Amino acid sequence: MKYNFDQVINRRQTASKKWDTLQEHFGTDSITPMWVADMDFLSPAPVIEALRERADQGVFGYSIRTDSYLTSIVDWFKRRYKWSIEKEWISHSPGIVPALSLIIHSFTQPGDKVIVQSPVHHAFYRVLKLQGREVVENPLRLENGRYTMDFDDLEAKLDSTVKMIFLCNPHNPVGRVWNKEELTKLGEICMKHNILVVSDEIHCDLVFKPHTYVPFASISEEFANHSITCIAPSKTFNLVGLQTSGIIIQNADIRTKFEGAVNAFSLATPNYFGIVALESAYRHGEDWLNQLLDYLQGNLQLLTEFFHEHLPEIKVIQPEGTYLAWLDFRDFNLDREELNQLVLEEAHIGFDDGPIFGSGGEGFMRMNFACPRSVLEKSLQQLKQAFTLLEKV
Ligand SMILES: Cc1ncc(COP(=O)(O)O)c(C=O)c1O
Repeated sequence: MKYNFDQVINRRQTASKKWDTLQEHFGTDSITPMWVADMDFLSPAPVIEALRERADQGVFGYSIRTDSYLTSIVDWFKRRYKWSIEKEWISHSPGIVPALSLIIHSFTQPGDKVIVQSPVHHAFYRVLKLQGREVVENPLRLENGRYTMDFDDLEAKLDSTVKMIFLCNPHNPVGRVWNKEELTKLGEICMKHNILVVSDEIHCDLVFKPHTYVPFASISEEFANHSITCIAPSKTFNLVGLQTSGIIIQNADIRTKFEGAVNAFSLATPNYFGIVALESAYRHGEDWLNQLLDYLQGNLQLLTEFFHEHLPEIKVIQPEGTYLAWLDFRDFNLDREELNQLVLEEAHIGFDDGPIFGSGGEGFMRMNFACPRSVLEKSLQQLKQAFTLLEKV
């Protein structure tokens, strides 16, 4: 089946965080939202069909994770990434961020330090701070338009008060798909210092060729035994509202502790529709995903060429995965407020403001390009107009 990602879907007044909180968040409704990380596309047809069938049945009782559900996760990772996991290793969490909160609660104490590699997903900071943990940044290094990990800085920051690292693989917002060599180096340092690696792999299926996703825990038995991997079909198939993820933990002691927290907070019962969506997506969504990746790559190429030709001062950090472009506006020498004002009031676009991703975010903005091409083209024209005005002033 050929999917039509060009279709423009009106998402306003659907209780959408991305579309229906613009006034509250940006102070205006009259902008194109390119912020919150969900996509403006329909999910795969087999997923919609499976959900419709379940809705038509009409009884919305408590649900369980069936053997077939767990097998669909195992098969997906085996087939696509040659990563062998056991059904028993997969714990439930409604979302990845709730899982991170439970992990913090279970494996660290107030005042303990946790490493994050900034700039990184803003929720990492939020959940750590809300539980009184100390965030230690191990900033990524930007050289020649590409981000890499700073292993010397990491090693220098590890002492007995550091308990954990939040790895983001692939990395939101800079779009790196960490390769095996980088992950191995990171893992070796963490193993040496007895640091638990929590690998958020929510974007793992959104990877552009020739890059390949390497699950951190797949690299060695040692890494698998000292890590927690967070996966979900939510970003991949645009199902974030259905709140269904899998937390893969090989080490039985770590898993028991994590599941203790899931039960203590009564989060073990999965969402009735979420389990249907996950299983149908992993079983029947691959064709859609392959077409999506082509479409996203087309969007990425379009925006890269556009900026290169019309607004060369705005540098696009080339994402190797995700549908998020990390844009470098530093050549304009604008302060945070001026940049936000220009993008919002002159270009009429809602981006995510770089500094919310921690240090290294100043002068950057994150653009969600998972939208129909016509919307992207219009937004690029608006940006061109706004920044060309600036150049003339
Ligand atoms: C790296 C990363 N982790 C987690 C999330 C959100 O996960 P969830 O909605 O499952 O809590 C996002 C959303 O953008 C993300 O980019």
